[in-house]
Amino acid sequence: MASRVLAAFILLISISSFSSAEEKEHVLTLDHSNFTDIVSKHDFIVVEFYAPWCGHCKSLAPEYEKAASVLSSHDPAIVLAKLDASDEANKELGTKFGIQGFPTIKILRNGGKNSQEYKGPREADGIVDYLKRQLGPASSEIKSAQDSATLIDEKKISLVGIFPKFAGEEYEKFTALAEKLRSDYGFAHTLDAKLIGRGDSSVSVPTIRLLKPFDERFVDSQNFDLEALEKFIEESSVPTLVIFDNDPNNQVYLDKYFNTPSSKVMAVVNFSSDSYTSFRSTYEELAASYKGKGLIFLLADLENSDNLLKYFGLNSEQVPLILVQKTNGDKYFKDNLTPNEIAPWLKDFVNGAVRQFIKSAPIPETNDEPVKVVVTNTLAEFVFTSTKNVLIEFYAPWCGHCKKLAPILEEVAVHFEKDAEVVIAKLDATENDVPGDSFEIQGYPTMYFKSASGKLVSYDGDRTKEAIIEYIEKNKETKTATAQTGSKDEL
Ligand SMILES: *[C@@H]1O[C@H](CO)[C@@H](O)[C@H](O)[C@H]1NC(C)=O
Ligand SMILES: *[C@@H]1O[C@H](CO)[C@@H](O)[C@H](O)[C@H]1NC(C)=O
Repeated sequence: MASRVLAAFILLISISSFSSAEEKEHVLTLDHSNFTDIVSKHDFIVVEFYAPWCGHCKSLAPEYEKAASVLSSHDPAIVLAKLDASDEANKELGTKFGIQGFPTIKILRNGGKNSQEYKGPREADGIVDYLKRQLGPASSEIKSAQDSATLIDEKKISLVGIFPKFAGEEYEKFTALAEKLRSDYGFAHTLDAKLIGRGDSSVSVPTIRLLKPFDERFVDSQNFDLEALEKFIEESSVPTLVIFDNDPNNQVYLDKYFNTPSSKVMAVVNFSSDSYTSFRSTYEELAASYKGKGLIFLLADLENSDNLLKYFGLNSEQVPLILVQKTNGDKYFKDNLTPNEIAPWLKDFVNGAVRQFIKSAPIPETNDEPVKVVVTNTLAEFVFTSTKNVLIEFYAPWCGHCKKLAPILEEVAVHFEKDAEVVIAKLDATENDVPGDSFEIQGYPTMYFKSASGKLVSYDGDRTKEAIIEYIEKNKETKTATAQTGSKDEL
């Protein structure tokens, strides 16, 4: 053991001294001026769309470079490139390839005519293996049990086509499917179902067998219609219960889980606690019994749930807990629950007997600063039923623009301090649920102005003291004025 660590240590030193001696970068840097030209010269090229400020990009960079160096001597050489997609001049390319986050890695084939998203690992060896497989044929033949063991990754989803011969319409469809989805799943084909080692070996052919590391472990389909096949794969590739823990193999299911437009049932429990086993088995049974009924299930380890809990305004003291978020965003939850309480609670939820959970920060005990602090539970009092003119800011504590606005808003509030009919307020939108039917919050800060008579409009003007004051002066309704115009406003 010790000698292996030492060996790794020595290797590390020799590699790093080597790379400092030879400064050559293996990853090509592209920009809008040469992207198309260079990509069009390659049958196969990999491009990372990154942003210089993105943390995940920074941690990927040395691994990506190492992989590029290894793959440069592969036969044929595999080229890895990168493009700063946050650069204004390159943005059009990012849009063209549908880049929504950083880093996104695309595999471009046929001079850039086809593009697929890279779905492989993020460390050098994994990148090398994955890309080598992307370069070969989309599906490989299983001729022996040994082939089966190398081609089928037990921890991932694979699709194996079982055919009487490698020709004909179904075989062509399978090949097309493999080309299309090769970056998402492993593909193989065989003449002998026995070699797969999972499932009925006397199945009628042709058949597509989906192998998965969860639930029933394999499912067959004999419908080779491409659309039907894609639907079959989509439906079979999300586990009945998605697990959120440290296992990187679960990442792909988590992505699917959070992108599925179903009501989501999530439970958080400490996987190292005594109650975990019984909690999990009860919850697992429940997930199975609700399968196909519009609810999808996730079980998260407390260790990994900081962000999840924070997002919902909950804390670790409330675990074990169960929480449902409907597709419209409505939330329901129960904390400190025992395994026996899970099923009855969910039944109540389904029957509409559970009250919606609305996150609200505590009502502040004192609220005597110029800018009034509003929480979800006081929105009605301060905004909806208030007969004053209210400018309210929705902010996030971490947002830079909000920090810049804070002293400006304070000055505005001081300016109106003597005016009993104007209120300047703020609401921390990370601690409070904001009713989506009244306010549309796309980013922070967002400001709304509610006039005394109840008209609610978003404030899109400049974020300067002068502009905000001018806006309020122009749009506020005074009681005398509203009375004259016959408003029903109370006097
Ligand atoms: C593409 O152009 C940029 C900017 O001129 C340059 O830095 C980069 O090295 C070029 N890439 C290649 C592969 O020629
Ligand atoms: C989870 O439970 C274990 C065992 O009881 C305990 O040591 C650990 O601190 C718990 N983890 C958290 C985050 O509370």
